[in-house]
Amino acid sequence: MLNVVVCVSGGGTNLQAIIDGVEKGTIRNTRITGVISNNAGAYALKRAEKAGIPAFCVSPKNFESREAFNRAFLDQLEALKPDLIVLAGFLVILPEKMIEVYRDRIINIHPSLIPSFCGTGYYGLKVHEAALARGVKVTGATVHYVDEGTDTGRILLQKAVEVLEGDTPELLQRRVMEQAEWIILPQAIDQIAAAKG
Ligand code: GAR
Repeated sequence: MLNVVVCVSGGGTNLQAIIDGVEKGTIRNTRITGVISNNAGAYALKRAEKAGIPAFCVSPKNFESREAFNRAFLDQLEALKPDLIVLAGFLVILPEKMIEVYRDRIINIHPSLIPSFCGTGYYGLKVHEAALARGVKVTGATVHYVDEGTDTGRILLQKAVEVLEGDTPELLQRRVMEQAEWIILPQAIDQIAAAKG
């Protein structure tokens, strides 16, 4: 069984795709042991609670220093004993120690075809705004391992999505989620669980 902890900051539609995949059996041999949000108001926390998954908020706002937040966040992770940590719209700079401790056990979903529209400053709608501004005709999503850089780790899966005439960042974001993110993120977890055996 692969124990997965999902880290979130917002709406949690990717978290929902993982919950649904585990329930439907498209993600096999996997258990979500917990969900951690840095944001108390994240709807993702409600999704976790509805699914009966332990949900925790560890917010930098509740700590005096970044170091204290990092320690609390790492303690929370450790308590959930993850084999795999999934960053599903988690908009926090990771503690360096986390990457050391969980090397090759952290994956992230990014809403573009890396190496396009990625790196510092490219997150959420900004990615789609940049893709539209550049006028690309194809975009997509990427699941990759997390290393010390921003969006630089080894790529696991990618899926292309067409940009359509009249797209707004919101329309494109939704299409990339529906046609790529909610498909390849569950697939990646299933593949990792299968490899673990
Ligand atoms: C998703 O589109 C995800 O790819 C993106 O944030 C959104 C979270 O949505 N992540 C990044 O931009 C990371 N650089 P969700 O909370 O509904 O899953």
